[in-house]
Amino acid sequence: MNAPLTISKPLDIAAIRQEFPVLNREVKGWPLIYLDNAATSQKPRQVLDALMHYYTNYNANIHRGIHTLAEEATAAFELTRDEVQSFIGAPSREEIIFTRGTTESINLVAYSWGRANIRAGDEIVISTMEHHSNIVPWQILCEEKNAVLKIIPINRNGELLMDEYEKLLGPKTRLVSIVHVSNALGTVNPVKQITALAHALGAVVLVDGAQSAVHLDIDVQDLDCDFFAFSAHKLYGPTGVGVLYGKKQLLEAMPPFLGGGEMIREVSFKKTTFNDLPYKFEAGTPNIGDVIAFRSAIRFMNTTGKEEIRRHEQDLLEYAQSELVKIPGLQIIGKAKEKVSVISFIIDKAHPQDIGILLDNRGIAVRTGHHCAQPLMERFSIPGTARVSFAVYNTRDEIDELVKGLQRVVKILS
Ligand code: ALA
Repeated sequence: MNAPLTISKPLDIAAIRQEFPVLNREVKGWPLIYLDNAATSQKPRQVLDALMHYYTNYNANIHRGIHTLAEEATAAFELTRDEVQSFIGAPSREEIIFTRGTTESINLVAYSWGRANIRAGDEIVISTMEHHSNIVPWQILCEEKNAVLKIIPINRNGELLMDEYEKLLGPKTRLVSIVHVSNALGTVNPVKQITALAHALGAVVLVDGAQSAVHLDIDVQDLDCDFFAFSAHKLYGPTGVGVLYGKKQLLEAMPPFLGGGEMIREVSFKKTTFNDLPYKFEAGTPNIGDVIAFRSAIRFMNTTGKEEIRRHEQDLLEYAQSELVKIPGLQIIGKAKEKVSVISFIIDKAHPQDIGILLDNRGIAVRTGHHCAQPLMERFSIPGTARVSFAVYNTRDEIDELVKGLQRVVKILS
């Protein structure tokens, strides 16, 4: 099981593609070209095998059972915690909490840390390019506590205005919650610098790593952020699994988020005491099979080589950008100097949804709409964009097909 995939360098993309069974399918009579990886990536065979192996051989509930299956499942589940710890450079495995996804991880912090620490008049800083999941929990908290939400503006290229950020920071700043990589623009934000500036004023920092963990090397100790949230399904892993990393000292001081089984030490009607980290924040039966399979996804990335994957994706990004700008009426939204392989664009007289439908007719999957970042769309005075996002299995040939598809879109819609 889970034998490491040995791939020679430079990457053999044809061999990698063979590891992803879904890439062999057709859509509407055309070979699938999957360019919606920022929404969710496809899964390699070893992730699918790990899931099948778990349900076929040792499906059991974890931590509570003393029988063989329960022990095997517990051991495999906890191995993923170790893998995640090393993947993001966390000092301790107790700082790795499994959730359902990035959204739940952020909400955990908002409900637990937020409600215990935010008072009337306190300030929380986010940015214009946040996903709704890093806006709404803070709006709810601010409303409840009479706190103030402050927004870092961005320039036309989709980069944070760092001078403005510094001006927003002050003695009332309690939290900075910032996206590492924008899902809609691909911008990579200087989160290490953002964290240092916030820490200088005693504020806590949460980094939303939903789009960064798959593309960048993550070292939470180097970033020095207090919380880091991400999801497995954008990292070639299963849906329904998220991670919240938090500094131990903060997590220990935080009250539980959800109450129930597993998160307690002892329950009586007089008084309930809570479990140690990380279990204090893992109430109920977790998503055992998917957490176990997530380990195979991380191993897939590590064995393939994150640096090699990044190089390939950057090549696709540069190639696609240079080809897309040749299409009449096409405008790229988001031209940050530091970008991952995500390109948002609009085309004159073509609604993003129509672009998406016409491309799907040729088997090309792209994302269209506001990308759960409506304030960002408002900043650019547009209702939405079409977005392509690349993963390790994408190719220049697929980009050529995208360009042909878009040329047809222009002919039909302009
Ligand atoms: N947040 C995901 C996206 O950007 C769903 O598409």
